[in-house]
Amino acid sequence: MTETYDVILIGGGPAGYQAAIRAGQLGLKVACVDDNLSFGGTCLRVGCIPSKALLESSERLVLAREHLAEHGVEVASVALNLEKMMAQKVKVVSGLAQGIEYLFRKNKVVGVKGRARFVGPDRIVVAATEGERELTAKHLVIATGSEIINLPGVTVDEARIVSSSGALSLERVPGRLVIIGAGIIGLELGSVWRRLGAEVTILEYLDRITPGVDAEVAKTHQKILEKDGFKFRLGVKVVGARHAGEGVAVQFQPRDGGAEETIEADILLSAVGRRPFTEGLGLDAAGVQLDERGRIAVDERFRTNVPGVYAIGDVIRGARLGHKASEEGVVLMEQLAGIGASVDYETIPSIIYTAPEVAWVGRTEEELKAHSVAYRAGKFPFNANARARAQTATDGFAKVLADAKTDRVLGVHVIGPNAGTIIHEAVAFMAFGGAAEDMARVTHAHPTLSEVLKEAALAVEGRPLGI
Ligand code: NAI
Repeated sequence: MTETYDVILIGGGPAGYQAAIRAGQLGLKVACVDDNLSFGGTCLRVGCIPSKALLESSERLVLAREHLAEHGVEVASVALNLEKMMAQKVKVVSGLAQGIEYLFRKNKVVGVKGRARFVGPDRIVVAATEGERELTAKHLVIATGSEIINLPGVTVDEARIVSSSGALSLERVPGRLVIIGAGIIGLELGSVWRRLGAEVTILEYLDRITPGVDAEVAKTHQKILEKDGFKFRLGVKVVGARHAGEGVAVQFQPRDGGAEETIEADILLSAVGRRPFTEGLGLDAAGVQLDERGRIAVDERFRTNVPGVYAIGDVIRGARLGHKASEEGVVLMEQLAGIGASVDYETIPSIIYTAPEVAWVGRTEEELKAHSVAYRAGKFPFNANARARAQTATDGFAKVLADAKTDRVLGVHVIGPNAGTIIHEAVAFMAFGGAAEDMARVTHAHPTLSEVLKEAALAVEGRPLGI
């Protein structure tokens, strides 16, 4: 017998599960299908959440080992218990997974565990453990996310050559960790293992780290990471990796040609990006079309070319971020329920959870220059911020970019302590079309880290108070 719903979310990551909860709140009859044992998707199981758990725990180790003494707190001995640290990570993840189950029950979302595939434009079959179930809905939403990109010549075995998933569960600290890719995953997971004692070398194709991040911020970030012991080889292309002895031999060459080199690693982490995941989904049976980059093609209301079939999150265009995906899911459900809603793509914040954190919203200086936008920049360093001094966390700065004519804030970039929290003030300013002068005139409590934004906004007018 075919089960009938108003909406079915295919995929239970941040896009699918948040959409399902919102659909339930709106009184829609909703099911969410996922083939994993728990809902939450890549973000909760093997992405954002476990990596943040390990980043938090490992930062505490560094704090105890290296920084408490300068605050007059003397700790007799500090030791790593990796097993316990991993258990803490598992506890965080499983607690949040149970939270989703609770929210599904509360909002009458039917959770279906099993692999879904289209068998027509308006129906799917789910291969569940209890047998095949056929489901149909007025609105079918593809929220199947993304998968790791594999580099030719580098075969991930999740033992010695790992993806981000494997790097979240290593059983011991590698002596030498080599990472391919200086993107966000490379820097975050590199930070975890560096703090736990690994020697970390990152091989990056471009001549800079973190493509897309404001170049001045990326340069400062690289310097701070180098001070913390990271080694970078920029402008090199990894061409292969093979097991050698107990470890891995990684072959790379200068990007623009030249002699091949080899570097030995105990563990190799491949972190060269993600791509949309649609394998086995039966898109042909539904007639859903992809765009030129293998993503599901959608219009501004998330509609595919097939009436009644939509797509959201990592599987479509745009930044691959959990919060972007869940905003799209919530907005789509509201649109389906007849509520006017849209995603403001100009004000989606991005955060790199290293120490210090890097956070930004809006345009970089490079983008403004490329589009010939006249702008004024104001900058303020954390070492002139009282609270940062008390925290002995003075690396980094905040930068506000404002339109030269209108003073409207076009981009804000922060590298420093709590940057990921500070940035949300800038997000709110930009969402309301605020000017740098507004930001400068709003009272910021003293002494707080947030004062760097006020000062950077004042610096746009050339009159910071604190430097
Ligand atoms: P990425 O696309 O951010 O970075 C991959 C890097 O690998 C690039 O710098 C690229 O130039 C380099 N690369 C590619 N081929 C190479 C080769 N053969 N040799 C050397 N270098 C090579 O991808 P990443 O870090 O894997 O992250 C995947 C996705 O997950 C991204 O979209 C990212 O935004 C997202 N993510 C977001 C997080 C956050 O918001 N905090 C955390 C982790 C991931």
